[in-house]
Amino acid sequence: MMSSDAMEPRIVVLASGSGSNLQALIENTQSVGFPGRIVAVGCNRPGAFALERAEQAGIETFLVDHQQYSSREDFDRQLRQTIDRYSPDLLVLAGFMRILTPDFVRAFHCRMLNIHPSLLPKYRGLNTHQRALDDGEPLHGVTVHFVTEELDGGPLIAQAEVSVDPQDTAASLAEKVRAKEHLLYPIVVRWFCEGRLKLAGNQVRFDDLPLREALRLPVDLNS
Ligand code: GRF
Repeated sequence: MMSSDAMEPRIVVLASGSGSNLQALIENTQSVGFPGRIVAVGCNRPGAFALERAEQAGIETFLVDHQQYSSREDFDRQLRQTIDRYSPDLLVLAGFMRILTPDFVRAFHCRMLNIHPSLLPKYRGLNTHQRALDDGEPLHGVTVHFVTEELDGGPLIAQAEVSVDPQDTAASLAEKVRAKEHLLYPIVVRWFCEGRLKLAGNQVRFDDLPLREALRLPVDLNS
C-alpha cells in the first residue's frame, strides 16, 4: 500500500467523447482518501467534452489527434510517448474509441483497464444495447476488464447488471447501464490503486486469490 501523496498511484485516463465515466472517476479520485490520483487526461478528438471536464477539475490534458497520423502505429507511438511523460501506474480507458496496436497494449500490460457496456463475453464491439434488445436478453450490463490484444476480450474483473424491461429502448438501456458504469469503474480503479487487483499472465488476482469469474456487483449497488 502506498502511503504518502507522492507515492499515490498515478492514473492517466483516455477518453474520446462526452466523458461521463471520466467525470465519475474525477469525482471519486478527488474525494478525501482515494488511494490514487488522475495526473492527466488524454483524448484523440479535438473539442471532446471529456477535455473540458478535466480542465474544469484542474487536471492536465493532452490531445493526440488520430487524424494527424497516417498510420495506426504512428498514432499509437505518439500516444504512448505522451502518456509515458506522466509515468502512470494505471491507464484507464473511459470511452476511448480507438483500436490499439499490440505494441501499445504490451507497453501497458497489467496496468490498463477498459469499461465495456455489456456483460462480456456477450456483445463485444459496438451497438451493445440494441443487440441485447434484439436478442431478448432479460439481463444486460457493464464489464470492467484488463486490456489485452484481443478487442473487448481481456480478462474480466467485475460486472454490474441491469434488467431489461419490456418498454426498454436502446437509449433507455444505455442510460441504465451508464448509471452502473459510473458506480462500477471507480470501485475497480480503487481496488487497483489499493493493490488488491492484479493481472498475472492472463489471470486476474483479487486479494491474492485467482479470480475464477467476474465479480458481480449487485444491481442496487450504490456506494
Ligand atoms: C461507455 O458506454 C463505456 O462503457 C464505453 O464508452 C462509453 C463512454 O461514455 N466504453 P462516456 O464518454 O464515459 O460518457
